[in-house]
Amino acid sequence: GTTLGASAAEKGRYFGTAVAGFKLSDSAYTTILNREFNMVTAENEMKMNATEPQQNQFSYGAADQIVNHARSRGMSVRGHTLAWHSQQPGWMESMSGSPLRQAMLNHVTQVATHFRGQVVAWDVVNEAFADGSSGGRRDSNLQRTGNDWIEAAFRAARAADPGAKLCYNDYNTDNWTHAKTQGVYNMVRDFKARGVPIDCVGFQSHFNNESPYVSNYRTTLSSFAALGVDVQITELDIQGASASTYRSVVEDCLAVARCNGITVWGIRDSDSWRASQTPLLFNSNGSKKPAYDAVLAALNNG
Ligand code: G3I
Repeated sequence: GTTLGASAAEKGRYFGTAVAGFKLSDSAYTTILNREFNMVTAENEMKMNATEPQQNQFSYGAADQIVNHARSRGMSVRGHTLAWHSQQPGWMESMSGSPLRQAMLNHVTQVATHFRGQVVAWDVVNEAFADGSSGGRRDSNLQRTGNDWIEAAFRAARAADPGAKLCYNDYNTDNWTHAKTQGVYNMVRDFKARGVPIDCVGFQSHFNNESPYVSNYRTTLSSFAALGVDVQITELDIQGASASTYRSVVEDCLAVARCNGITVWGIRDSDSWRASQTPLLFNSNGSKKPAYDAVLAALNNG
């Protein structure tokens, strides 16, 4: 193939990007988006604060614009994200206990229902595990409603959109030896054993000097896949955009049969949440970087 999406498709996979809705009027941006990618994640527009700014008043305009842009051009959509401790609307941030649990489940149900049939996979729960050496859950208002809040969210999402793949998504879960990786692994193993509806695990893969790519990444992907879930690289960016590191990430995904897609977290360096790290595949002027060539070659050679 001659584009990221077409080359990934030849390997039975997708290649996606995060999209910011307000950039869809930038023709330099949409030219690359429409040419290269066949999966789209809304960078912010499907988050809880965007979709339910006031309790029980749902707002889908910005998200619908991205979904319509993507689907009308044959791209698929990953939903991001139904339940998260961050980017909650103000009304939810101040809730706790059973009213919060009910509000969270209502949010999952309403949003998954709105996008039913339009979203191939949902990040049902995002970033629920703690950093550091505990391997346990992150403290949050949602966690304080009870340890079963994650499985409750997955069950609500399955009921609302039985056709969508349901994913758990997190960062710093790339290194197989890290406690956080093992904590998520144990949760997924437990969910599969008890029949909690989980289909996939997303590895954000924000690689930088503090949390670099490590060669056991492939072991991480294959170990999770062996639990009976798909694995996806959901928010890839690499500080400095080393071509060889990007190549390794792509080769690792291609080496794992159930690694069915890669999404980069933005198109041009100027679109990145870490723009100063120049971590993406295109320069700010829209030209392809060496990392782009490495990714394309890896997709075509693998
Ligand atoms: O839209 C408002 C604007 O009206 C306001 O003037 C401005 C002032 O700060 O803020 C704008 O909102 C910002 C929003 O991005 C849109 O640009 C928020 O402040 C800012 O916090 C938000 O950052 C996003 C971040 O998630 C929030 O947690 C990034 O764009 C987005 O790339 C980032 O994505 C996350 C994933 O969802 C989860 N994994 C980590 C990843 C990187 O942090």
